[in-house]
Amino acid sequence: MARLTVNGKALEVTADPSTPLLWVIREQVGLTGTKYGCGVAQCGACTVHLDGAAVRSCMMPVAGAEGKQITTIEGLAGGSALHKVQQAWFDHEVPQCGYCQSGMIMAVAALLKDKPKPTDADINAGITNICRCGTFQQVREAIHAAAKA
Ligand code: FES
Ligand code: FES
Repeated sequence: MARLTVNGKALEVTADPSTPLLWVIREQVGLTGTKYGCGVAQCGACTVHLDGAAVRSCMMPVAGAEGKQITTIEGLAGGSALHKVQQAWFDHEVPQCGYCQSGMIMAVAALLKDKPKPTDADINAGITNICRCGTFQQVREAIHAAAKA
């Protein structure tokens, strides 16, 4: 049994403590916006926030998320308006297939909390998510736009 808080909602799930948080979020909580890509913390498709920090949930045991605020792409906006990163993604038509994009957006939202006006070097260092469609240039433009919003 694990007690979690996901997008502000307290819930209990039955899972082995070592189960990756990704699978608990997708299969038990039923929030499928968080994606599985590599399973070894390399691609970033599974990025969620734990107490506001970006983590790769495929390698995070669910036990490590107990007592923390878990935020997924479904809870990022926190209301009817889009989060500024989502709005910038929309305005700059960033996604191609879209598979990597929820993780990308979550990573960028966390970066902007730490560095509200990131330089290209900050982006290179902070956003290491992989996009097989090659949206990196649009991602960079949208990050700069979100930083100005
Ligand atoms: S699925 Fe977690 S980093 Fe790739
Ligand atoms: S938009 Fe297709 S993998 Fe990134």
